[in-house]
Amino acid sequence: MGSIVARFLTLHEIARKARQNLDQGAWDYLVGGADTESSLRRNRAGVESWVFKPRILNEVTEVSCATELLGHELRMPVIMPPIGSIQVFEESGAAGVARAVQEFGLLQVLSSVCLPDFEALAEQYPGPRVYQLYLIGDQAWMDDIIERAIAAGYTGFCLTADTQTYSRRERDILKRYVPLSGRVAGGGDFNYQASMTWDTVAHIKDKFDIPLYIKGVATGEDAARCAELGVDVVWVSNHGGRQLDHTRACIDALPEVAAAVDGRAPIIVDGGFMRGADVVKARCLGATAVAMGRIEGLAMAAGGYDALMDAFTILEQEVRTSMALAGVNQLDQLTPDLVTKDVSIGPAHVLSAFPFLSEGY
Ligand SMILES: Cc1cc2nc3c(=O)[nH]c(=O)nc-3n(C[C@H](O)[C@H](O)[C@H](O)COP(=O)(O)O)c2cc1C
Repeated sequence: MGSIVARFLTLHEIARKARQNLDQGAWDYLVGGADTESSLRRNRAGVESWVFKPRILNEVTEVSCATELLGHELRMPVIMPPIGSIQVFEESGAAGVARAVQEFGLLQVLSSVCLPDFEALAEQYPGPRVYQLYLIGDQAWMDDIIERAIAAGYTGFCLTADTQTYSRRERDILKRYVPLSGRVAGGGDFNYQASMTWDTVAHIKDKFDIPLYIKGVATGEDAARCAELGVDVVWVSNHGGRQLDHTRACIDALPEVAAAVDGRAPIIVDGGFMRGADVVKARCLGATAVAMGRIEGLAMAAGGYDALMDAFTILEQEVRTSMALAGVNQLDQLTPDLVTKDVSIGPAHVLSAFPFLSEGY
């Protein structure tokens, strides 16, 4: 007798299963933000406030959503961002993500506070892959890590610039949960993050031949400065609402950043993008690819590699369906005139992309 393999057919089911599998501490660590969580809610409210102005009667028999980012072929304009301690959600951790990303044809940005660590992961699943580093040592320490990342086959290096100090995650503090334990393994000091400046960016560009991603850009001014310094990828992010509270939604900063960068570098955006339609909106507003952090964590928590593969399959269907219904069959036809800002349709929160959860599904 053959067995029936239960697969997830909606992202709703993945979110529900993740909630069932995680204890309160891990769940709050995944879905929570900083302070009052207004940046977290605004990310989602922002994504929901952009609506389509679809075009009709265009031929959409064949829809292609494949793209590329600095030569990396992406089956859809989605990447998996760094999620520290992802092994908290499922034991395979970064290795499960690596396997799904390679199998499906996307790109993983590995956090420096993950297991397996960057060298062990590269041995298990050789690149391409981007390495995101938190500075827990001086410049000589950083240089050594970059050299080791290049030697291990990493195809990009990412500095997270919105975390110069660790925020107050009150959800965690209220229960005395300490997700940071183990983060600074090896005796490093997180305070080095605070010493990062534009000189650090110039130093890396000057000394190393590896594409540099700057993650945490929130304004056109800083985006222009990145482009002037030759930064290879400008990454619009507020860390999923987990760092500075009371920021704009990342999607609302995107048009300003796209104008400032003016084609000099590809743009990644993240923050509240939970569905295929959200990815399509980001492409309309100038992003090359969208990073989906909570989706990565929810899917890993729901069932590791298999659930993440299901999430990718569902997302790809959603992207293609949204493109066809908006009247386009190629990503480069997604332009700002296909979207507009509209009024909010209700309170947004981290799970408001899954409205049927509250109805008991
Ligand atoms: C549980 C969790 C851990 C994270 N850890 C890191 C990290 O180690 N490094 C980093 O640059 N960003 C980290 N982020 C931020 C994500 O890379 C990404 O910017 C964010 O999740 C995007 O927002 P979204 O979750 O709404 O998609 C983390 C996010 C979450 C939810």
